Amino acid sequence: MELYEEKARLRKELKKRRHNLNNDTRKEKSEQIAQTFYQIKEFKEASSVFCYLSYMDEVDTTRLVKYILKKNLKLYVPKIINNEEMVATRLRKMADLEPDKIGILTPKTGEILLESIDIAITPGLGFTKRCERLGYGRGYYDRWFSKNHVKIKIGVAFETQLVSSLPLEKTDIAMDILITEKKVIKKK
Ligand SMILES: Nc1ncnc2c1ncn2[C@@H]1O[C@H](COP(=O)(O)OP(=O)(O)OP(=O)(O)O)[C@@H](O)[C@H]1O
Ligand SMILES: [Mg+2]
Repeated sequence: MELYEEKARLRKELKKRRHNLNNDTRKEKSEQIAQTFYQIKEFKEASSVFCYLSYMDEVDTTRLVKYILKKNLKLYVPKIINNEEMVATRLRKMADLEPDKIGILTPKTGEILLESIDIAITPGLGFTKRCERLGYGRGYYDRWFSKNHVKIKIGVAFETQLVSSLPLEKTDIAMDILITEKKVIKKK
């Protein structure tokens, strides 16, 4: 099977696994992931954080994002600007968000990240214990990581999204740390 076909097959399977968790379970596990995140030294030492705004079945980052704002850290969130490019946009308050074309909350205003950033909290469909990542198939995160200097890339996922291996390309960028509701995995 071609690599992209294998990726497509896995994405389908992993979307199903994530969807099979019920809403309450997803909320609860997301909260456990957030609590773990608050305690890691990398976050305690951070002054700037990029974090995705969760959509549908993803690990819910709403509380996490509010916590980052409350702590007065510099927060950036994703904004898709065309078929290939995502930028990190500064978010100062939740009221600056509005749903984009497909319903993902996106900042109305805010300057684009130009300097380096301490942490990037990254979504994904699948991860391995080596912190490798399978995303949604558009390459937005892989491209963004290749262009921006992120000190620590942190993947967040439900335990059920862990797989023993992934079909990978040279452009697939691995995480430094992976957090699930059960554990923290650091890339060796
Ligand atoms: N840095 C890059 N430069 C050019 N093309 C890239 C880069 N990174 C990824 N791509 C291309 O983008 C396409 C999608 O990549 P991939 O299948 O890895 O998506 P993904 O990691 O699942 O998606 P995402 O990062 O949006 O969650 C592939 O054809 C891949 O080769
Ligand atoms: Mg990729």
